[in-house]
Amino acid sequence: MAKYSILVNGKKHEVDVLEDMPLLWVLRDIIGLKGTKFGCGKSLCGACTVHLNDTAIRSCSFPVSAIGEGKITTIEGLSEEGDHPVQEAWEKYVVPQCGYCQTGQIMNAAALLKKNAKPSVAEIEQAMQGNLCRCGTYNRIKAAILEAAGTPVTNG
Ligand code: FES
Ligand code: FES
Repeated sequence: MAKYSILVNGKKHEVDVLEDMPLLWVLRDIIGLKGTKFGCGKSLCGACTVHLNDTAIRSCSFPVSAIGEGKITTIEGLSEEGDHPVQEAWEKYVVPQCGYCQTGQIMNAAALLKKNAKPSVAEIEQAMQGNLCRCGTYNRIKAAILEAAGTPVTNG
């Protein structure tokens, strides 16, 4: 075991865990933030996506020892009142179905817009292709990202 001081959603947490413990377990089981989901555990589905200094990472495969001074943001810390533009667009387009993948989708979309404020449809598809949704909400996800970017789809 080793002690780490990690910054999550603006708050320092002292944790005493194995150095290869995935960040996802630290978030869910040690700190108690359950909004980030476990899907595959192998970096294949995106359900566990969080931000490390505004970049999307897969917390199921990211060892706590690699965080260092990095700033972690989870879905709970994306906005104070659930009013991040991506969250508002998600609500407007009623994106979720079962909801399981949606934390990861939202966090990946927010990271995309941080880097590229007005992505094209092709850029959205490229950035989001690793976030799987077994309910098939892909079209609504795309529409919501375009909305959040201020370039909503119009029907003619
Ligand atoms: S649970 Fe991390 S990518 Fe699937
Ligand atoms: S909404 Fe069900 S897996 Fe995406």
